Amino acid sequence: MGPVGMINFLSVLCCLCLNLVLAIDTIRSSQSIKDKDSDYIISNGSTFKLGFFSPVNSTNRYVGIWYNKNSVSPAQWVWVANRQKPLKDASGVLTIFKDGNLVVLDGQKKILWSSEVTNSVVNSKAQPLDSGNLVLQDTTGTIIWESFQFPTNTMLPNMKISSNARTGKKVQCTSWKSPSDPSIGSFLGGAQPQHPPQAFVWKDGSPFWRSGPWSGRTFSGMQEMYHVFQNGFSFVEDQDGTFVLSFFYANMSLSHIVLTTQGDMELRYWDNEKEDWKVLWKALKSECHFYGMCGEFGSCNSRNSPICSCLRGFKPNDTKEWNRGNWTSGCVRRTPLQCGRVNSTGSEASKMDGFLKLKMMKVPDFAEWSATLDDDCRQQCLQNCSCIAYAYDIGMGCMSWTRNLIDTNQLSSSRVDLYIRLAYLELDTEGDSKKIVTITVVIGTVFISICTFVLWRWIARHKARKKKAKGILLLKRGEAHKTFPNENMLVENLNQVKVQELPLFNFEKLASATNNFHQSNKLGQGGFGPVYRGILSNGQEIAVKRLSKTSGQGLEEFMNEVVVISRLQHRNLVRLHGCCVEGEERMLIYEYMPNKSLDAFLFDPQKENPLDWRKRFNIIEGIGRGLLYLHRDSRLRIIHRDLKASNILLDKELHPKISDFGTARIFRGNEDQANTRRVVGTYFGVVLLEIVSGRKNTSFYNDEQSLSLLGLAWKLWNADNIVTLIDPMIYEPCFEMEILRCIQVGLLCVQEFAKDRPPVSVVVSMLKSEIANNLPPPKKSAFTKRSIGLDTESSQLIQSKCSANNVTITMVQGR
Ligand SMILES: *[C@@H]1O[C@H](CO)[C@@H](O)[C@H](O)[C@H]1NC(C)=O
Ligand SMILES: *[C@@H]1O[C@H](CO)[C@@H](O)[C@H](O)[C@H]1NC(C)=O
Ligand SMILES: *[C@@H]1O[C@H](CO)[C@@H](O)[C@H](O)[C@H]1NC(C)=O
Ligand SMILES: *[C@@H]1O[C@H](CO)[C@@H](O)[C@H](O)[C@H]1NC(C)=O
Ligand SMILES: *[C@@H]1O[C@H](CO)[C@@H](O)[C@H](O)[C@H]1NC(C)=O
Ligand SMILES: *[C@@H]1O[C@H](CO)[C@@H](O)[C@H](O)[C@H]1NC(C)=O
Ligand SMILES: *[C@@H]1O[C@H](CO)[C@@H](O)[C@H](O)[C@H]1NC(C)=O
Repeated sequence: MGPVGMINFLSVLCCLCLNLVLAIDTIRSSQSIKDKDSDYIISNGSTFKLGFFSPVNSTNRYVGIWYNKNSVSPAQWVWVANRQKPLKDASGVLTIFKDGNLVVLDGQKKILWSSEVTNSVVNSKAQPLDSGNLVLQDTTGTIIWESFQFPTNTMLPNMKISSNARTGKKVQCTSWKSPSDPSIGSFLGGAQPQHPPQAFVWKDGSPFWRSGPWSGRTFSGMQEMYHVFQNGFSFVEDQDGTFVLSFFYANMSLSHIVLTTQGDMELRYWDNEKEDWKVLWKALKSECHFYGMCGEFGSCNSRNSPICSCLRGFKPNDTKEWNRGNWTSGCVRRTPLQCGRVNSTGSEASKMDGFLKLKMMKVPDFAEWSATLDDDCRQQCLQNCSCIAYAYDIGMGCMSWTRNLIDTNQLSSSRVDLYIRLAYLELDTEGDSKKIVTITVVIGTVFISICTFVLWRWIARHKARKKKAKGILLLKRGEAHKTFPNENMLVENLNQVKVQELPLFNFEKLASATNNFHQSNKLGQGGFGPVYRGILSNGQEIAVKRLSKTSGQGLEEFMNEVVVISRLQHRNLVRLHGCCVEGEERMLIYEYMPNKSLDAFLFDPQKENPLDWRKRFNIIEGIGRGLLYLHRDSRLRIIHRDLKASNILLDKELHPKISDFGTARIFRGNEDQANTRRVVGTYFGVVLLEIVSGRKNTSFYNDEQSLSLLGLAWKLWNADNIVTLIDPMIYEPCFEMEILRCIQVGLLCVQEFAKDRPPVSVVVSMLKSEIANNLPPPKKSAFTKRSIGLDTESSQLIQSKCSANNVTITMVQGR
């Protein structure tokens, strides 16, 4: 071996050493990645690579993150650091700078890109995580910078796209200029902070694509998306008013959403068989998806030709251009509205206009939102002459429009109808077509609501038999609760919460699925009857809750459950697939939960399958999220009222799902719900303490003083000995702080006076330690003794009573 050979050998060896060093997944201050040596590092679970790359048809060098996959289609560069300042050669270095920032340097050691943390620290380290997030941490492990806060064109699962109207802080995606140039292109994708929130793509500052308002489980303007994503998105407002959009497409391990150079959004996933990236969904599937395609007061329908038409009662603004397929100037009203005319008094004026219902619409942009009910929503719009349209949806609340209606689409499936204000004259001239619309609506409503309808009849019959006025199912605004004096009123009020799109199952099918409700398929006994496991002919597993024929008292709960849960969807709530109403049979069909309920795990005397602390904490968080959705994000405002370990079901992965809405209540308007929620918070507190301690609240500890779990917890807290409450099965010193924090949160939830208890939104933040370490000290708990005293505040609010040996609130009426 000559000297040259020797040097080569040494440098190869050296590279090997370097690679060995880099076989770890972290860059520390002494380390760097050099483009020359084609170094990269791999995230700790091997999903992503961090290193230098050149885009297709480009020789420029960039530092970025991409999947650790070989594919026919180009690599998916999910993040790029120096996108605005490419390296022209292979002299680049990615390293930790002396100020602690992560930097990209060129051959002259000039900084091309920096993480730009101002209070940066020495000895920081950078690490690509398996989520695709690149994090910079200080020596204590605190994340001081992360790439998820600075997305490029890709949204990865669990990344948070956010926007706050007050502070102006935003996290958004920006497109590449071209497939060979990652620098910032024309398109921006982000969240619009408003009620209800929307997702947007903007092109050079103008709206280019709009999702339609978020309905609590999906984007109302993109029903087709629902089939792809199901519960794959979440869009919530956090405490400081930041709207946060994230997606977690759990079905596929590898998936991401890319804002393309053309302004489209594509959900791409890794096809394991083809070993390539595939597009599962695109935002701009038809021309109708372009923002404002048909101009103001126009409506787009991709199945029509031409796709644009004017809304009913409107005509093209510029007929010549319109007929040539130039829709930009939109439409204008044919007959002026009478409302607000000088010669009319207010009440007469309102008689002169009416609302035309347009079914299944993507509602226009610029909605104004108010927390009003269906009927009030209409009234509110009718009485205000500047209101030209409204829409109501239980997931979105009351929306009204005063500006010209833009970006309205006709959809093939949607729960949302748009009501537009027209002069009566205009409604009349619609004569025949209006009748057709009416008939269609009537038939549609009847058809869709067969399930409800049959139920109502059955209830009415049943009620007539019982001749007893009862049934507090719904609460009216301004009243803590209301009893409906007769059946008609009950039915009328049920009518307000339409049960739509709830599939009906036939009895035969369910009987065969459950082997004729065989004893061996019985999962347990629910509030109003047995629950069976079943397998449908297509292999889907279900749980069937069958109302006992003899159980008169289960009826209301059954109805309540249908009404409440059919309108809800959240990954921490059990899903209702449908119902069965045949003859005397009443059944509810749910998704099947292989791991049964939380109490089976917690209070299993054998402790065969103990849950470790991580799992328990996940369960606590999941329940919190479910409650938050019920209380706030669903806009339906639901109080569960019977939250307990046996009503928390666990799925395959032990994710918690709240079930049993038989005694839940829908709160409408802004009545004393805030306080009521705080009352309900106690149930969460109890469950939390049960999870942490592994003990039932209804068992009694310390015989002498007959303390319930809450009493015991309070006593131990005061004795500075709360650590002994922790279930020994989960205790590990490293978790102690976290567990104690949970206990403290639990105790805060069960404080004696409702006004002291934190609302669920705060509880969730407390759990996630978003609120700094100093939680307030809890005050005395409610229900600490065996003879549980009435909590006067709460009993006044929701007219509840507490049964003697557990803290289940039961309805006063109807028993
Ligand atoms: C990767 O690192 C993260 C954060 O440090 C850690 O939570 C995770 O368990 C690690 N994954 C693997 C497979 O080591
Ligand atoms: C790269 O260049 C080739 C040849 O010019 C062209 O056919 C191809 O479409 C380009 N690819 C991209 C992604 O621009
Ligand atoms: C999602 O998962 C279900 C069952 O786990 C499967 O049937 C379905 O095809 C999956 N969807 C996609 C798009 O892969
Ligand atoms: C109608 O068209 C004119 C000219 O194109 C435009 O100025 C006006 O704003 C349009 N009106 C509406 C309601 O769009
Ligand atoms: C479309 O019509 C508007 C006026 O209604 C006009 O200003 C515009 O130039 C037209 N666009 C095209 C592409 O013809
Ligand atoms: C005044 O109101 C009456 C109905 O109240 C209506 O018939 C009439 O057309 C209105 N006059 C004008 C000028 O709007
Ligand atoms: C009518 O609605 C507009 C816009 O929402 C609002 O500014 C105005 O105060 C309302 N007027 C009345 C009388 O409520």
